[in-house]
Amino acid sequence: MRSGLSFDKNSRRVRLDPPAASARRVVRYSVVVPAALSQPKKRVALVTGGAVRVGRAIVEHLVTADYAVWVHCYRSVQAAHELAVTLGDACRGVITADLGDDEARSRLCAQVLADNGELDLLVNNAASFEAGPVQLRQDADLRRVLETNLVAPIGLARRLAATLARRRGCIVNINDAAGYHPWREYLDHCTAKAGLLMATRALALELAPQVRVNGVAPGTVAWPTSPEYGPGSPRRAAVLRRIPLGQIGQPADIARAVLFLADEPHITGQTLPVDGGTLAACGR
Ligand SMILES: NC(=O)c1ccc[n+]([C@@H]2O[C@H](COP(=O)([O-])OP(=O)(O)OC[C@H]3O[C@@H](n4cnc5c(N)ncnc54)[C@H](OP(=O)(O)O)[C@@H]3O)[C@@H](O)[C@H]2O)c1
Repeated sequence: MRSGLSFDKNSRRVRLDPPAASARRVVRYSVVVPAALSQPKKRVALVTGGAVRVGRAIVEHLVTADYAVWVHCYRSVQAAHELAVTLGDACRGVITADLGDDEARSRLCAQVLADNGELDLLVNNAASFEAGPVQLRQDADLRRVLETNLVAPIGLARRLAATLARRRGCIVNINDAAGYHPWREYLDHCTAKAGLLMATRALALELAPQVRVNGVAPGTVAWPTSPEYGPGSPRRAAVLRRIPLGQIGQPADIARAVLFLADEPHITGQTLPVDGGTLAACGR
């Protein structure tokens, strides 16, 4: 800014600083600068399942990269609102929706679109993690898991694609190493995530060149909350044996990969494993 001029962020006014104290006459001018001119527009992201664990880490990382973020949640409503308070202006809003329900998905998208139609990044992070031996599961269980973990990410991509296209935006689908190599007793989950691998490629093909579509496939980065995965459990030991790097990752590892893919203009249709080498070891 020209010497003698200063900008007051609070009032958004440019001031002509008064001449030196020794001058006989003090003249002050002020000009109102429209907000749109004074601040570059933030990019806008929607993160599903953004209130807890991996989703929360993604939200927080995007905010440090100067995104404004819609935080979607389902049951973690209180955690979402507490996060919104800590994020302040960087939180575009909290939206609660059961992604297993088609109407709720429509309402979620309508709310995002109603906000000036601004969206640069969709992160499909939310997913269920249901387990059980195949003989004890029902077709209804499979349908429920497919709705949340496969139909929902595709449905959100479809509904938000035009808006993303206007801003040359992108989509990042959070997948799972289990989408490549099955986990015993997670047939429904693995099948949905394997479908999401293909959906990522197929969407990338159809939405190019305006919208890029990529994925991140975490290995274990946060222990499942069920009691059999408690500290020192045989389940934990079995998981650790499958990770060549010898330890689980962190939710922040996934968040950095999401931002990388969001920022790289010539990558589309790819799913990036962030798994400590689990896939390189072919799941053994
Ligand atoms: N944690 C890992 O080590 C790991 C490993 C591989 C892949 N992943 C993938 O990374 C992503 C996040 O994992 P995470 O461990 O953080 O998951 P998580 O703790 O199991 O949380 C699941 C998230 O999905 C949301 N969700 C579940 N069912 C939903 C529904 N019907 N409607 C709307 N939202 C729903 C939950 O929202 P509410 O809490 O608001 O209900 C929650 O935010 C998932 O896609 C997962 O498959 C994680």
